Amino acid sequence: MDKLLIQGGTPLTGEIAISGAKNAALPILCASLLSSEPLHLTNVPRLRDISTMLRLLAQMGVEVSDHGVDGLVLDSRGLNNPLAPYDMVKTMRAAILVLGPLLARHGEARVSLPGGCAIGARPVEQHIKGLQAMGAELRVEHGYIHATAGAVRRGLAGARIVTDMVTVTGTENLMMAAVLASGETIIENAAREPEVVDLANCLVSMGAQIAGAGTDKIRIQGVERLHGATHAIMADRIETGTYLCAAAATAGRIRLTNTSAAYLDAVVDKLFDAGCELVSERNAITLQAPPRLKAVSIRTSPYPAFPTDMQAQFMAINCVAEGSAVIRETIFENRFMHAVELIRLGADIRIDASNAMVTGVDHLDGATVMATDLRASASLVIAGLVAQGETLIERIYHLDRGYERIEEKLGQLGAHVTRVR
Ligand code: EPU
Repeated sequence: MDKLLIQGGTPLTGEIAISGAKNAALPILCASLLSSEPLHLTNVPRLRDISTMLRLLAQMGVEVSDHGVDGLVLDSRGLNNPLAPYDMVKTMRAAILVLGPLLARHGEARVSLPGGCAIGARPVEQHIKGLQAMGAELRVEHGYIHATAGAVRRGLAGARIVTDMVTVTGTENLMMAAVLASGETIIENAAREPEVVDLANCLVSMGAQIAGAGTDKIRIQGVERLHGATHAIMADRIETGTYLCAAAATAGRIRLTNTSAAYLDAVVDKLFDAGCELVSERNAITLQAPPRLKAVSIRTSPYPAFPTDMQAQFMAINCVAEGSAVIRETIFENRFMHAVELIRLGADIRIDASNAMVTGVDHLDGATVMATDLRASASLVIAGLVAQGETLIERIYHLDRGYERIEEKLGQLGAHVTRVR
């Protein structure tokens, strides 16, 4: 298993380009299942989760052609095997996103039920409940969701769905199911995340009728069929935020291109409170860090509030800031696994249920630490960049799921990072 060796202590300086958003690309790849015409996607990040999703689609009969920098073309004319097997779902929970589109276009699906995950139980009953409201028949047997699109009505029918909580992939799955259902579907308490909007934009360019994406009430008027389209995946706001934190923690100055501060208000506000100067351009963002950051408290919530996917990175920057901060995680019940690893580097963190009290220390010391999930790994990279001496991060396959060419990009910013194979 690959490890990452970081020699800490160098302020990050320079410019890098941000990749396309993993969490927009994953549902959009699944949207290709909704049409028999090709979907051409650009700015697709080259990540492990993306290649897992492409393998999953390929074994369903989707033809994937890779045109390098010109993107990917997915052609699901030959879709013949509506199955998401356990082996793939267990490595990438986002595989659940094939359920809605398969039911809508193919009328049936067999998708392994995702198990628990390092950050929480993460059930999918809202996806199931919403699809049932649209007339689908679903039963769970031998660890698989067996779904058919309503034997009686022969196809999904529009419905009014109110989800019990804000769920990002739940909203995406239901939106993809609804675009080909008969009549109107209304999703209330919908996720407002920018990745939901990017998916809606792609679906609209394929001929779907969707209004209200980006608000908590999405209206979808079902259409007979979708056609092919070309779509550029939005920039990854979490990758952007992660590099901003890395520069902030190392007292650096960086410019990130192919991205913007547009969807990062909550994160940018906190970096500003921590003492950073930020300059936002249409397609770039520059951060100048102060010599020492001030501690900033955060509370995670659905968009547009502070994202849970940036919580671990802010814990890392608070470890070396002046003062104390409280970090409150409200989305996932077990998303503080990085804290114990940060403590191994010398951080002062006390956990009490879903609150973490972090008191900044003068310095961190390099050590061997273990990555437990994607964003936890990112926080360990940030801590390793600040720490004195060498930090060895084990199990970095988590990082490869969501950060494209991370050691290369950090190297471009002057960091001393090597992948140990
Ligand atoms: N939930 C339920 N039942 C459901 C659905 C969700 O109880 O049927 C709960 C979850 O357990 C969680 C909360 O609702 O406590 C919110 O979960 P959500 O469904 O929004 O999460 P997700 O769709 O599985 C996506 C991202 C995550 C990100 C969350 C929250 C993708 C592929 N994944 O997950 O990204 O943390 O939204 O914003 O879009 C990451 O990139 O590192 C990552 C984990």
